[in-house]
Amino acid sequence: MQEKNNNLTQEILKKVKQHKKYKSIADEIVVEEINKYLKSNPSEKINKEMIKSIRKQLHRLYSSYQTGKKTKREKYLEELKTNKNNQELLNNLLSITISTKERLNQYPELYKQIFKITGKPKTIVDLGSGLNPLSYPLMKIKTLNYYAYDIDEEDMKFLNKYFKIMKQQGLNGKAEIINLRKLENNSKLKNLPESDIILLLKVIDLIDEKKKNISEELIKQLIKKTKYIVASFATKTLTRKPMKLPRRQGFEKMLERNNLKAQTIKTDNEIFYMISESL
Ligand SMILES: C[S@@+](CC[C@H](N)C(=O)[O-])C[C@H]1O[C@@H](n2cnc3c(N)ncnc32)[C@H](O)[C@@H]1O
Repeated sequence: MQEKNNNLTQEILKKVKQHKKYKSIADEIVVEEINKYLKSNPSEKINKEMIKSIRKQLHRLYSSYQTGKKTKREKYLEELKTNKNNQELLNNLLSITISTKERLNQYPELYKQIFKITGKPKTIVDLGSGLNPLSYPLMKIKTLNYYAYDIDEEDMKFLNKYFKIMKQQGLNGKAEIINLRKLENNSKLKNLPESDIILLLKVIDLIDEKKKNISEELIKQLIKKTKYIVASFATKTLTRKPMKLPRRQGFEKMLERNNLKAQTIKTDNEIFYMISESL
């Protein structure tokens, strides 16, 4: 039975990844969604409905934040090699994903405000980073160690190429795959480098599930390895409608329960919590 299941999982994995939108998402994440689907819809055979439903979940976790500009990104990196201070190129790079595009004009002031509270960091760990590391030039920091983690292999390769090019500009970076939902036996999470700031931007809503408050356990583990966690939530949906508040109220209660204090910054479409341990 176990072997049968493994074969089925592999078959589904292959089928799901045939679509280019999902092809470079780490296998572990796809398998997690397959197992969740099979748990509530037991089946011995692959079917269309199943593939559609699993892809829909992956879309929610990853693909919905991409724009059509992804195909141009290698060209932008080539340009960056010879043209590191070009504003238009920076705008193009930041326009590849939706959250970085939304923050385009906000980044300079946003980083100023964040660092006013946290101090200028020497080391940042960015979890569920997407392409946020591309905003480095807007941090106005001369040298920075930047560790980025997310679930898409191609994105992590892209970031590693970016870090190589930006080394001359004082950015020492490394990008790797992580699954933030896996709290046990997760060597990446256990061995995260010590840092001044851990970023969890617009990712908490994606790792929590209805009956599992994964982010509480995650934040309890992370705060031991950093001075500040900077977590953000969207205040508008992808279609720009206002979001419901109860989740964030739950988040604030969770911080209180764990003796964590937080200061907030709001922009048009996002709220940021600068979280530290209460003295
Ligand atoms: C809304 S995007 C935010 C990206 C980036 N933090 C930003 O704000 O610009 C959410 C990110 O979380 C990542 N993500 C989703 N599930 C994850 C998981 N289980 N582990 C790590 N990252 C995850 C997605 O791949 C995506 O890049």
